[in-house]
Amino acid sequence: MTTKAGFFARRSVAAGCLVAAAFFSSSAAAQPKPIPEIVKKGGRFALMVDGAPYLVLGAQCHNSSAWPAMLPKVWRAIETLHANTLEIPIYWEQFEPEPGKYDATVVDTIIDQARERKVRLTLLWFATWKNGSSHYLPLWAKRQPDKFPRIVGKNGNIVDSPSPNAPAAQQADASAFAALMRHLKQKDAERTVILVQVENEPGAWGSVRDYSPMAEKLFAGPVPAELLKALGVNAPAGANWTAAFGSNADEYFHAWSVAHYVGQVAAAGKKEYPLPMYANAALRDPVNPGPAGTYESGGPTDNVLAIWRAAAPAIDVLAPDIYQNDPVRYRKVLELYARPDNPLLVPETGGTAGYPRLMFAALGHGAIGWAPFGLDYTSYSTEPQGMPRMAPENLNPIGLNYQMLEPIMREAARLNFEGKLQAVAEEQGQARQTMDFGNWKAVVTFGAGGRNNSAAGNPTPIGRALVAKLGDNEFLVTLAYGKVDFTPSAAGAHRDFLRVEEGGYENGVFKPIRIWNGDETDYGGLSFYAAPQILRVLLGTY
Ligand code: DGJ
Repeated sequence: MTTKAGFFARRSVAAGCLVAAAFFSSSAAAQPKPIPEIVKKGGRFALMVDGAPYLVLGAQCHNSSAWPAMLPKVWRAIETLHANTLEIPIYWEQFEPEPGKYDATVVDTIIDQARERKVRLTLLWFATWKNGSSHYLPLWAKRQPDKFPRIVGKNGNIVDSPSPNAPAAQQADASAFAALMRHLKQKDAERTVILVQVENEPGAWGSVRDYSPMAEKLFAGPVPAELLKALGVNAPAGANWTAAFGSNADEYFHAWSVAHYVGQVAAAGKKEYPLPMYANAALRDPVNPGPAGTYESGGPTDNVLAIWRAAAPAIDVLAPDIYQNDPVRYRKVLELYARPDNPLLVPETGGTAGYPRLMFAALGHGAIGWAPFGLDYTSYSTEPQGMPRMAPENLNPIGLNYQMLEPIMREAARLNFEGKLQAVAEEQGQARQTMDFGNWKAVVTFGAGGRNNSAAGNPTPIGRALVAKLGDNEFLVTLAYGKVDFTPSAAGAHRDFLRVEEGGYENGVFKPIRIWNGDETDYGGLSFYAAPQILRVLLGTY
């Protein structure tokens, strides 16, 4: 669009009047969109996109789906899901086919197609590490095992995991990642890309650490002073890893080495274009972790988060990939990763029946985003492998979440950032759950209940609920498979539904489509089944 001032500015340039041109063009040019960032206030976090809190209603495609020929099958799933963010890999082997020659055609295709669909992107940099191995190295790098070495196990065996103590490999990865970020900076003034994952589940399976001669030398050397300081360990200056950390030394050494490497790659990219960046973790069991070596070693598992924080300051978020389809473990992971020094982001989780409701447990812990893995129509399935092929009915339970949240996405993100939002998932035997908002309690009962709010629960726990405080006596509500009622904290007072409006937000303004009254409000609360409905509820007492 040509604005009047812009038109004048161009005419002035043509007339050779450069000062006037500069004046007019700067006053007329559209403000550049702010770069997405993660902000923190009062121990809570928000992912800012276009200057306002944003909630990632995400989906990750399969590992081999980020090729132009596959994209139609990815986008169809994103559409079924109503996801607002696609998490999609960028493969080092594709991006740098020859040393120092970069090919941005695929990333550009992905960005252009995302824009057409008004979907944002999280790019996953599959490079030195992918699930603890290095299978995404470019071919030319795979052919140079001296420069890109694998680690050596305790018994001298070669382990299929890249060594983090390989400076040339680190520099090659960092240069390629910097080139990607440099490209994004010039390509993406629209901020279609909002987050970048650096590597994928870095660490090692099959050995707690690298025992190569090079690693042994470092292991026998002093622990970096900044690590001792960050962990508050009182070891004598120059103490080596064993002296400082005893039986944890092997694991801590590998965590530091991997985190430092990933942190350097992230820093090189951030220097070009400072998008928010995260590293994802293959978790250890949050309840019974077992000894080091029984889970992936060196990644941001819950016991080494402080090491990662110290070693990789360019990484903004340490994010759990939660495949624990057990509510106790799921919740424990949420607790472990929602820390005052770490925003909660769930970049991968299961996509099968038990998971969708757990998004609400994550929101209840302040999550800035949530994304199940492997959601596209490329006819591949990871969990369980081979079957079932993905069909719309597999995606609908997640799609219900996103349809519930889409019309309040910005408001939910802001209210959560402000500490005014609570959300819960149904659990077996916990059909009734209460959210305390001070002057009001929101009482959620899952399952089809009677007028008396009997809480039967659903045959399998699928209920989910979100309540946020808009004002002293006003709430935003959305649920599935349950009912909510409110009780005033004032003694002897009774709840009165003054006005219950169904609707959604458009550009920050609530637009009602109808008022609920009569049966919809008289039967002991507000009932929801599987339709995505948003209510704005004004309460009074009598
Ligand atoms: C976690 C990894 O991060 C993904 O890339 C994928 O391999 C899934 N596991 C498969 O379950």
